[in-house]
Amino acid sequence: MTDTPAPKATKSVFIKTYGCQMNVYDSERMKDVLAPIGYAPTDAAEGADLVVLNTCHIREKATEKVYSELGQIKKLKEAQGGKMTIAVAGCVAQAEGAEIMRRQPAVDLVLGPQAYHKLPEMIARVHRSTGERLETEFDTQEKFDALPKARSVDGPVAYLSVQEGCDKFCTFCVVPYTRGAEISRSVDEIMVEARSLASQGVREVQLLGQNVNAYHGAGPAIEGGGEWTLGQLVRHVAKIGGFDRIRYTTSHPRDMDDDLIAAHADTPELMPFLHLPVQSGSNRILQAMNRGHTREHYLDIMRRVKEARPDIGLASDFIVGFPGESDKDFEDTMDLVREVGYCIAYSFKYSERPGTPAAEMFGQVPEDVKNERLQALQALLREQQTAFNASKVGQTVPVLVTGKGRNAGQMHGRSPWLQAVHFDGAEDLSGQIIDIEIVGSSLNSLSGKLPQMADGVPA
Ligand code: SAH
Ligand code: SF4
Ligand code: F3S
Repeated sequence: MTDTPAPKATKSVFIKTYGCQMNVYDSERMKDVLAPIGYAPTDAAEGADLVVLNTCHIREKATEKVYSELGQIKKLKEAQGGKMTIAVAGCVAQAEGAEIMRRQPAVDLVLGPQAYHKLPEMIARVHRSTGERLETEFDTQEKFDALPKARSVDGPVAYLSVQEGCDKFCTFCVVPYTRGAEISRSVDEIMVEARSLASQGVREVQLLGQNVNAYHGAGPAIEGGGEWTLGQLVRHVAKIGGFDRIRYTTSHPRDMDDDLIAAHADTPELMPFLHLPVQSGSNRILQAMNRGHTREHYLDIMRRVKEARPDIGLASDFIVGFPGESDKDFEDTMDLVREVGYCIAYSFKYSERPGTPAAEMFGQVPEDVKNERLQALQALLREQQTAFNASKVGQTVPVLVTGKGRNAGQMHGRSPWLQAVHFDGAEDLSGQIIDIEIVGSSLNSLSGKLPQMADGVPA
């Protein structure tokens, strides 16, 4: 469903997405913008009329990947006699701008995360060979205003951006520079998109933002207006959105208010899962990172969240080897991990980002020390993840079936704690939430059975 009926597709677009869920959301929206001008998505760059790389700038490796991928795509373009438009979108586009076209002249256009609604106009300029081929203006509200109101969906799970940008300026991070100042969409605007998703069969919605719990969008006039918090938004989406499951990501400890914690206790649609990145367990390092919270504050939030929702799964992000991190600081991180107990966590070696304050700091940590620390931390996190998954064996858990599994006759779905679950079952279960008896677990997934089959009675 789009605002106006899409014309018959005459061209193909391949979009490759790197980085966070915000980029996954943006790639979906780019498809919505391109459909009315005749572009249908395809799953290979080869033969495509338009190739879009939606890029991530968060770590050096992420950026380098983009240039090596562009080298490959350039060869495909040459093999097609130049009949391919190459666009670079996302955070590398925002950070490096015209430099990308200098480094890789096969690139036709570069557009930052706030310019996706201008994609059709930019493609037209490329085809006419006139006009600007770089768009890196910051106007997040204009982007949301100009994108089609309705969404096309693919399966029972969808992302919905409610907030974008960041004003926190952690000293290691590029996001405030690539995504711009923090803005929240209005509740009314979010609900239009939410209803479009629900009417197309979406059962689980994930509210997105770089700092999603800093949400402070305009409340609906009919409810008295004012600025709403994320807790209010979550309850509203639960009440009238038509979804069975709601999640939100990514949060910041500084914005974790009492009402949002209470929503975990009183809103059954809100899934028992919280991704709250802490980055480090050392107060000294947290301060140098400009995180604006202490270890104690974070641990207190985790304690209160567990009290509100005892079965909650906790997740986090960590950086090891931040400038000046000593063995003792790293031990504080290990100790915090032992104290919290995570169901999943993402950990990274500190990566120097040009233009950020941490890149200029003294005490950059040698690569071999970063490697050692990362290995130790990841071993501990793997242990916790394996134990968390194993704790579900023997339980019956509601699984949202998302599609076919890897093997014949197998289906795939996700648990309330975002675990992948495989079980033998029929394809028509797709999109349903069904009780599955968990019979096995590993580091990355659970295996289960339909309960009827567990008793030997055919389903
Ligand atoms: N807004 C989120 C994080 C967005 S970036 C938050 O505040 O938590 C996702 C993750 O990438 C961060 O949580 C951090 O762990 C990691 N990251 C960001 N910049 C990094 C850098 N320079 N080096 C290594 N990891 C980094
Ligand atoms: Fe980056 Fe910090 Fe903002 Fe998260 S809160 S996006 S880590 S600056
Ligand atoms: Fe990467 Fe930009 Fe997201 S830098 S993590 S794609 S906000």
